[in-house]
Amino acid sequence: MLTKILPASLASPAALWASPALAASDSASTTSPWVALAYLVAGVFFILALRGLSSPATSRTGNRFGMAGMLIAIVTTLVTHSVASLAEIGIAIAIGGLIGFLIARRIAMTAMPELVAAFHSLVGLAAVLVGWAAYLNPGAFGLLEGDAIGAVSKVEMGLGIAIGAITFSGSVIAFAKLSGRMSGAPILLPARHVINLGTLAAIIGLTAMFAMTTGPEETLPLIVGLTVLAFAIGFLLIIPIGGADMPVVVSMLNSYSGWAAAAMGFTLGNTAMIITGALVGSSGAILSYIMCRAMNRSFLSVIAGGFGADDSAAGGGEAREQRPYKQGSADDAAFMLEQAEKVIVIPGYGMAVAQAQHALREMTDILEEKGVEVKFAIHPVAGRMPGHMNVLLAEANVPYDKVFELEDINSEFSQADVAFIIGANDVVNPAAKTDKSSPIYGMPVFDVGAAKQVFFIKRSMGGVGYAGVDNDVFYMDQTMMLLSDAKKMVEEIVKALD
Ligand code: TAP
Repeated sequence: MLTKILPASLASPAALWASPALAASDSASTTSPWVALAYLVAGVFFILALRGLSSPATSRTGNRFGMAGMLIAIVTTLVTHSVASLAEIGIAIAIGGLIGFLIARRIAMTAMPELVAAFHSLVGLAAVLVGWAAYLNPGAFGLLEGDAIGAVSKVEMGLGIAIGAITFSGSVIAFAKLSGRMSGAPILLPARHVINLGTLAAIIGLTAMFAMTTGPEETLPLIVGLTVLAFAIGFLLIIPIGGADMPVVVSMLNSYSGWAAAAMGFTLGNTAMIITGALVGSSGAILSYIMCRAMNRSFLSVIAGGFGADDSAAGGGEAREQRPYKQGSADDAAFMLEQAEKVIVIPGYGMAVAQAQHALREMTDILEEKGVEVKFAIHPVAGRMPGHMNVLLAEANVPYDKVFELEDINSEFSQADVAFIIGANDVVNPAAKTDKSSPIYGMPVFDVGAAKQVFFIKRSMGGVGYAGVDNDVFYMDQTMMLLSDAKKMVEEIVKALD
């Protein structure tokens, strides 16, 4: 049956395995000590890049280290490989580079997480394709031991294909959820944990059988089976995750894409890929763990997909009752801000949408000139990507020493005269503490209710935050809703302050 469906090369890998032209070893000459040294230097640059990226102040230097490491890795690979002609590789780099350049120019900052998810899917797909290429033409990859692929190589190949396929389908679902092409709410299948565990066990079993079996005809159904199941489990693992857990999913898929690249590195015998993949894999895993802690979620419950979630917490678009609220103007806000001694600004996704950070900086400068103390409070998942708010505030030259993380500033709201919420919503929603059925329940949030006065900038009372739930802060006695585009409102406040 398979021989009828698959193209000739896939249906009869034996033909390729036996092909002397293709079996001629073109594989990397990674045994040269100079190549190993160059890859090691690239690896050191990547470690320095990660170190630099751990603080906003050093992130530019970190980026430069990363670019230098990548340059060394690419040049070394080009100089030492003879798989394709330099012209072919140059054309591929030019096409890929042009597409990347155009996407980077056009993408809105707020769409970054979905772009990152889309890129992760490509890494996953590349790992699957490399694994399959190595299976179909093991001679070209130097994997033949006698006339069969070695067992260790088959384990590496199986793992690379499995992790790559999980990364691919998981990232496609994450992309669809983050870009709104699919509902962001968790989709909870009955008996999903049993299905997931069964599928994972089948993948492990097939990989083991694949490693122990020899001969192209016998191994083909096993590798096809494990590829299909791995694509399925990626899909199954991500559909039950939604709402407030999506940020963790993005960093988790980042980690998977790293492990997929590392597995590819083993198949290709490329040290730089192994080092880089392991760095991405482990840093992604650490970031996921940190984000889970920040969100008060257990890491296992998130990666197992929807553990602890039930249909009542599926979130999104709940019916909202009409409740009374106070609405104010820019003049009202300017008057009260001037009188304040201490103001805490809580930026969120809406500030990014409105690109209000520069106007906000201007407002802060004027208030400080008038003797008001202004601090910025950043929630670990404010916006749509890790560090989203930090990047925007840094772009507007807000000094780093005025920017505080949740645990460092939350106790200060009780001494603040004004909590100035600009485009944030879920991260200030008290339902996270009080409503067990809320999709954000358990996530730590800012205690803005402790401030004497709350200003809440959003465009309309109809709009909701990412989790799609109502927010009691709108209706508190001390809250004044400033309903407008964030940039426009802050510019009007600046005008009124002047
Ligand atoms: P959200 O809860 O998403 O709320 C955004 C708010 O901004 C809404 O109140 C919206 O109301 C308002 N808004 C949108 N455009 C605006 C504009 N032009 N001017 C003024 N207001 C505007 O934001 P958040 O508090 O930053 O929370 C982040 C949420 O995203 C969390 O649930 C988090 O789990 C999730 N998430 C985070 C990440 C990462 S890694 N940070 C990734 C994926 C998801 P209107 O529509 O009425 O204006």
